[in-house]
Amino acid sequence: MSIPHSELPFYVRPMQLADVPAVMAIEHTAFSLPWPESAYRHEITQNELAYYYVLGFRSPAAPQPAHPSSWWRRIRGRLRQETEPPREVILGYGGFWMMVDEAHISTLAIRQDVRGRGLGEFLLLGLLDEARRLGAQLATLEVRVSNTVARALYTKYGFRETGRRIAYYHDNNEDAILMTTPAFTVGNYWQMIEAHRAALMARLTQQLQEGWQVA
Ligand SMILES: CC(C)(COP(=O)(O)OP(=O)(O)OC[C@H]1O[C@@H](n2cnc3c(N)ncnc32)[C@H](O)[C@@H]1OP(=O)(O)O)[C@@H](O)C(=O)NCCC(=O)NCCS
Repeated sequence: MSIPHSELPFYVRPMQLADVPAVMAIEHTAFSLPWPESAYRHEITQNELAYYYVLGFRSPAAPQPAHPSSWWRRIRGRLRQETEPPREVILGYGGFWMMVDEAHISTLAIRQDVRGRGLGEFLLLGLLDEARRLGAQLATLEVRVSNTVARALYTKYGFRETGRRIAYYHDNNEDAILMTTPAFTVGNYWQMIEAHRAALMARLTQQLQEGWQVA
């Protein structure tokens, strides 16, 4: 069975206050200096420069098992198709600050048990799409020198080292690398993004067809 790309169960949507507990559960496993819950609440409700999103997964509607002893349920089940409503699971989140025409990505994280499946890319693509839609010309971010996974992801998406902030992280005095994309509209940067998007959609589709279960 083939799953059209438009029917993938993953999506990126704006973060809401109700998402903050799920975000914090990921935050604590993703970062050695987790932001407090109040920071996310502030970003969502107070910071006019801030744009935050969650990566959601919607499980398909599952048929509700008929209760064998209930004649009424069996009859009602025949009268109308009974299904459990689709369930949303938050698998990651990220955000950026719009600084004039730059989108500064302030955070990005994927739930630990679903990393390495392309969802970090999916989320980053969502952020870049939104940044571009809001008028950003390029994106920047800071990343720990030791964070080789995140650096590889950003490098794949065209971010290049443009500076260093010495001893930026106060838990271990680690340096931050400042990374910046080329201008979105110059050269073939966005063509490269679209090529990655197409490859990623094919990869996610294949993983689901092969039976990947997201819990
Ligand atoms: C960084 C993070 C968001 C990546 O998400 P992910 O879902 O694991 O990444 P993806 O599966 O989408 O991989 C995308 C790319 O990242 C890099 N990558 C992913 N896992 C990697 C690994 N184990 N080793 C090296 N590079 C890796 C690769 O470039 C990969 O592209 P490829 O599949 O073509 O090789 C995730 O690891 C995370 O949440 N880490 C903790 C929080 C964090 O460090 N955030 C970044 C703060 S700046």
